[in-house]
Amino acid sequence: MTTLPLAAAAERIMARCDELATITVTPERLERVHLSPEHRAANDVVEGWMREAGLTTWQDAAGNQCGRIEGRVDGLPALLLGSHIDTVPDAGRYDGMLGVLLAIEVASRVRPHASALPFALEVVAFSDEEGTRFGTALLGSRALAGTWDDAWWELRDSDGISLFEAFQDFGLDPARLPSAFRRPEQLVGYLEAHIEQGPHLEDADRALGVVTSIAGARRFSLTMTGHAGHAGGTPYDRRRDALVGASELVIAVETISKELDTIGTVGKLQAYPGGVNVIPGRVDFSLDVRAEHDAVRDECCQRIQEAAADICARRSLEFDAIEIYRADAAQCAPHLRDAIAAGIRSTGDDAPMALYSRAGHDGVAVSALTDFAMLFVRCAGGVSHHPDEAVTVEDVAAALDAFEGTVRELAAR
Ligand code: GLV
Ligand code: MN
Ligand code: MN
Repeated sequence: MTTLPLAAAAERIMARCDELATITVTPERLERVHLSPEHRAANDVVEGWMREAGLTTWQDAAGNQCGRIEGRVDGLPALLLGSHIDTVPDAGRYDGMLGVLLAIEVASRVRPHASALPFALEVVAFSDEEGTRFGTALLGSRALAGTWDDAWWELRDSDGISLFEAFQDFGLDPARLPSAFRRPEQLVGYLEAHIEQGPHLEDADRALGVVTSIAGARRFSLTMTGHAGHAGGTPYDRRRDALVGASELVIAVETISKELDTIGTVGKLQAYPGGVNVIPGRVDFSLDVRAEHDAVRDECCQRIQEAAADICARRSLEFDAIEIYRADAAQCAPHLRDAIAAGIRSTGDDAPMALYSRAGHDGVAVSALTDFAMLFVRCAGGVSHHPDEAVTVEDVAAALDAFEGTVRELAAR
């Protein structure tokens, strides 16, 4: 892969984001989930770009697409750069993918000088960050970090396919999964570039930011149960309408989260039996709670639980909550943060903006294995998890410059 001037390299990254966006389950929207045929196709394309950039490539036993260039001598611990290539339903084209393509482009630019590097450089395109298919997020990065839980093999997607079966369908051998686990001594750290997915950089008129930490998150499957009945015949004082109860709880999630400065979202909600003239007897819904600090995140979950108990008592309903995901807040390592800040300064921004990430990232999982830090890139209107997600080619050029500067800073230390 030729080393292009910065602006042309940024154009190439944008074009590749466009190309990856065509690898989707349906042309109507971008959706590419863990271990799908689209995931296989995206891995193949990314592998081709890694090879073009001069990396030695392999797909690990968890479906993560990996590449490596050696440093001063073969076999040195690696600085790992990357992000994920799975998406949410109806996704934008930069969440995850931009970080993978920036990492490949940095590797391509550093490779001619790799014989001077005091570490190897690796790039990873994680197979699952979003958790869209199996409900539990970070399956790719948790495999790499060696924090795999064998209970996950029994997770099922909406078609009833287990994670175990999905591995086999993809051509992966579940028994070989431990070979994807890395050991701390194999790595010097993990760096990820990612769109901010919020408006703080844009509001501050900054292209780039250095991440201080990633918010802690918890996710639940919720069920509110009442009694179905005739929409015309059942008087209000005899109704046990699960959807009205769930709706009250949705409002409570927002109210409590605003009070505590946490972030609570109900993103999925399904009423049963689902007839236009039937009182809903059961509602299945989801809850996602995040906060900069775990204690206030947990307080928020507790208060939502209390609100549910109060609603159920008033409306003769029952409530059940199953926790399906928990990730504690993860702190970026100060020495890697400093390197990212130095990378941003090398682009002409003398006082890089620092901010914490409200969104989750692979660094949460990788932090169990090695130090990590993140570079944020401004995105239009802070919009993400939506097809309108957008970045400018100028910001991508600045991000590439800063990310490469970060690697050079670390190499010089
Ligand atoms: C991942 O994008 C998340 O923060 O949910
Ligand atoms: Mn995302
Ligand atoms: Mn992401």
